[in-house]
Amino acid sequence: MTLRIAVLPGDGIGPEIVSQALRVLDRIAQRYQVHFEYREALVGGSAYDATGHPLPPQTLEICHRSDAVLFGAVGGPKWDTLPPSLRPEAGALLPLRKALGLYANLRPALLFPALAGASPLRAEVLGEGLDILVVRELTGGIYFGQPKERRDDGRTAVDTCIYTEPEVERIAHVAFRAAKARHKKVASVDKANVLETSRLWREVVSRVAQDYPDVELQHVLVDNAAMQLIRNPRQFDVILTENMFGDILSDEAAMLTGSLGMLPSASLGEGTFGLYEPVHGSAPDIAGQGVANPLATILSAAMMLRYSFGMGEAAQRIEQAVDAALREGYRTADIWQEGCRKVGTIEMTDAVLRYL
Ligand code: IPM
Ligand code: MG
Repeated sequence: MTLRIAVLPGDGIGPEIVSQALRVLDRIAQRYQVHFEYREALVGGSAYDATGHPLPPQTLEICHRSDAVLFGAVGGPKWDTLPPSLRPEAGALLPLRKALGLYANLRPALLFPALAGASPLRAEVLGEGLDILVVRELTGGIYFGQPKERRDDGRTAVDTCIYTEPEVERIAHVAFRAAKARHKKVASVDKANVLETSRLWREVVSRVAQDYPDVELQHVLVDNAAMQLIRNPRQFDVILTENMFGDILSDEAAMLTGSLGMLPSASLGEGTFGLYEPVHGSAPDIAGQGVANPLATILSAAMMLRYSFGMGEAAQRIEQAVDAALREGYRTADIWQEGCRKVGTIEMTDAVLRYL
């Protein structure tokens, strides 16, 4: 079986971490007798430098013709002064999500027991650990609504938050299906006391919930959700929310696990196609030094196996190997603690491969 993977390393540490995830995928390919065909393409600032656009048409074409996309990271100070439509984030990542129809963003915030000490929360609050799945709507809301513009000679600015019923419905189904396979709880986060889009959101989510009688639904206002995540994060199983709230709450949930450098994500649409990327950014300050943490990208590759290729067992093996490497004390600089062994990007991957 041949599976086509579009490989978009991007900027900053992107190329270093993506190459390590490919080593792990190569090992899986051997073990499971599948063939991964990698097609590399330019994205972000490096694509802008080479072609004048952060998302060249060839890149989109390669993604469209692939079974999944492995994405590194984009952005850096060098491109921050470009107009928004040419910036790596707004000019590449957002249009890529939209063009590929990736409306469902899954961001698991999972605490690896070996890293519990790195969480900013006290052990009593963390208890047995954390396992939250943020399901974020990714192609609607205030990120994409029109008009989005300057008025009055630039002295007034407008963004538009807009949601349609079908947009809310499909993301709600993703969350309920995920919850069914987990701890059967969905917390739907909105701002229904103020926003009309949130009132629609709440109505539609409540209706979808009727299709999942074994899943418990709770509506939480976003400010309260931000507070509850710190006060008692273990009450959450699946957090379902719109685009911008999901952006904010997923960073908060990620930080509770102690390291943004550890967390993977999947962006899915209809069917099995998906884009997989680490939640962290391009970290230009440490790019090219061989010290970046490759684990979030390796875990993103595991999510690709699970969600796009139906290889749940292989995915689990990777996750267990990461856990084992951490238990043995291997740490990149971002998660290093006294008494642990500090290693670089390649050695960290070597450790994961040893336990795979
Ligand atoms: C994320 C990022 C992006 C977002 C930025 C880079 C546009 O913060 O993936 O969470 O806001 O979606
Ligand atoms: Mg973000």
